[in-house]
Order: sequence, then C-alpha cells, then structure tokens
Amino acid sequence: MLHGETYQKSQKIRTGILYFSGAGNTECLALIFQGVFARRGDCKVVFFERITRKLNLEALPEFDILGIGFPIYFRRTPSIVFETIDRLKGKGQSVFTFCTKGMYSGNVTRDILSRCASTGLVPVGHFEAFMPGTDILLLFARKGSLTERIVKKMHSRHLDRKANQFAEAVLQTEGPSIPRVKWYTPIENKVVKPLERLVTRDYQVFKEGYYVLPGRCTCCLLCVQNCPEDNISLQDGRIVFGNHCDHCLRCIHHCPTEAIQIGIKTLKTVRYWPKATEGLKILIEGNNSE
Ligand SMILES: Cc1cc2nc3c(=O)[nH]c(=O)nc-3n(C[C@H](O)[C@H](O)[C@H](O)COP(=O)(O)O)c2cc1C
Ligand code: SF4
Ligand code: SF4
Repeated sequence: MLHGETYQKSQKIRTGILYFSGAGNTECLALIFQGVFARRGDCKVVFFERITRKLNLEALPEFDILGIGFPIYFRRTPSIVFETIDRLKGKGQSVFTFCTKGMYSGNVTRDILSRCASTGLVPVGHFEAFMPGTDILLLFARKGSLTERIVKKMHSRHLDRKANQFAEAVLQTEGPSIPRVKWYTPIENKVVKPLERLVTRDYQVFKEGYYVLPGRCTCCLLCVQNCPEDNISLQDGRIVFGNHCDHCLRCIHHCPTEAIQIGIKTLKTVRYWPKATEGLKILIEGNNSE
C-alpha cells in the first residue's frame, strides 16, 4: 500500500531514486533498483539522481515512493545523506532505503529509517548488500595481489532477484516499519568499538590528508567535477583539497592518472570504479547466475 497525498491507484507509481556513492558500488545497486522499478508495469521511474551538495531537491518531480541509497562509512550513514533527508519535505510518501557495505553496518537501519520518518516520509523497508570494500582496496590491496582478488569477490549474490523481491515487499507494506535497536548494540558500544579502534588504526591515514603527485595530474578536473562535497578546487594550476571531506574516495578511485594519494600507502594500491569497468557487469549479471 502506498502512502501520501498525491498517489492515486489508477496511475503508475512514480518512483524516485536518490543515492550517494563514492567509488561506485552504491551507484551499481541504485542502477539495479532503477532497472527493477522501470521493468514493473505498475511503476515509472521519475528521477534517478546522485546526492551532492549541488543537488537541487526543489527541482525533483513529484513522487509516490522514494528510494535512498548510500554506502556505510565508519559504520554510519554519510552525513551528507542525513542532511539531504532533512531537506526533503515529505508529504507522507513512502520511502525505502538501501545501502552497500564491506562488512558491517552497525545500527544504520534504525538510524536512517527514523531520520526519514522525522521528515514526513513513511519508511517501508531497508535493503543491504555486501560489496567490495573500497577502503580495503585502497588502503591494503596491492595491484594484482591475492587481497585484491579476494576483496573483489566479496559481494552479495543474486542482487537483481533480491532487489525484485524487496521492491515487491515494499510496495505491499501497510505501515511504517522501523526496527528496534539491535539487542547487541550495548555490547557493540562497550566492547566492539574500543577493540575496533585498535584494528582500524589505519583509518588514521585519512588524517594525513589527500595530495596530488606532482607530474601526474593532467588537470582534467574530473575530481573537481565529481566531488560530492565541492571540496576540491583548482588554484594557481594546482588541485587543492578543502576541509569538507566525507572520505568517499571517489576522487582517488576515479582519477584517470592515479595522481591522488593519501600518505604513501596508496602509491601501489588498487583503484576501483565498478561502473566504468567490468565490475558493474559482474555485480549485476554475475549475481543472477546460480
Ligand atoms: C572511509 C570508508 C569507511 C568504510 N567503513 C565501513 C564500515 O564501517 N563498515 C562496512 O561494512 N564497510 C565500510 N566501508 C566499505 C564501504 O561501505 C563499501 O565498500 C561500499 O560498498 C562503498 O560504496 P561506494 O562505492 O558507493 O562508496 C568503508 C569504506 C570507506 C571508503
Ligand atoms: S582527476 Fe586526477 S588528473 Fe584529473 S585533475 Fe584531478 S588529480 Fe588531476
Ligand atoms: S575530496 Fe575526495 S574523498 Fe573527499 S568528499 Fe570529495 S571526492 Fe570524496
């Protein structure tokens, strides 16, 4: 059942998709959902937009159901996604969320669905998929290494089928569905998080800052155009990074000359862009084969 003032049963269900994505995993899942809704006879996809600071929410067409996609960074929803949800003025329309993760998403489901509810939307479900860890690939996987091969194989299977089933379920959902706090959340806060800080020391690398290797940058400006936070600019012929970074790694993974680095760790590690390479095919078609 759909919610909202505007939906009429005789019409096609107007479906909108907003997604945030760094290297591109969530973009792949968003494309899968776009395909799922576009193929349904009862639905029509009215917009499909990547979340950035420049996204003009006022210009989006009216919708009956909205899908919001995002990756898990540091076991949380990237703050730009929350800020976008806060700017959405819901009129009681249905909303479902979907996320991609390398391993573990903490209490994200409850956090994101509650946030959607607080802005006047009716949350009807949340979908999660495992995808190759874009952080692991950049920080730990040398090109051609076994780590690279293993991490790239770590993704959910049969995503198209699962997304189809999920779409069917959310369109039938009668009322708001926000899960309770997970029973293990207190243990996680008191035990797992402190332990995790030891293991993820390498995230300190982000504090070292991003820089461009002299001589490698061709000033193509792809990073400037692609940064969702408008955090990169060209100043006096040099690429400069500001202080509003989500650590989505889009600039690094997509730079055509691999000029962008963090510390020295990333000089020989993998760059990953699933939509532009065979990755999208593997993530979509590979998932459908038994
Ligand atoms: C800075 C950073 C932090 C991450 N933290 C987590 C995490 O806490 N848990 C997890 O399961 N995956 C984590 N990941 C992996 C991403 O969630 C995963 O690779 C996701 O599919 C990336 O999607 P994207 O390509 O759309 O950005 C992290 C990735 C990055 C770049
Ligand atoms: S994407 Fe890479 S090559 Fe292009 S401007 Fe940015 S740093 Fe330079
Ligand atoms: S500077 Fe790079 S990592 Fe930071 S938000 Fe922009 S694209 Fe993402």
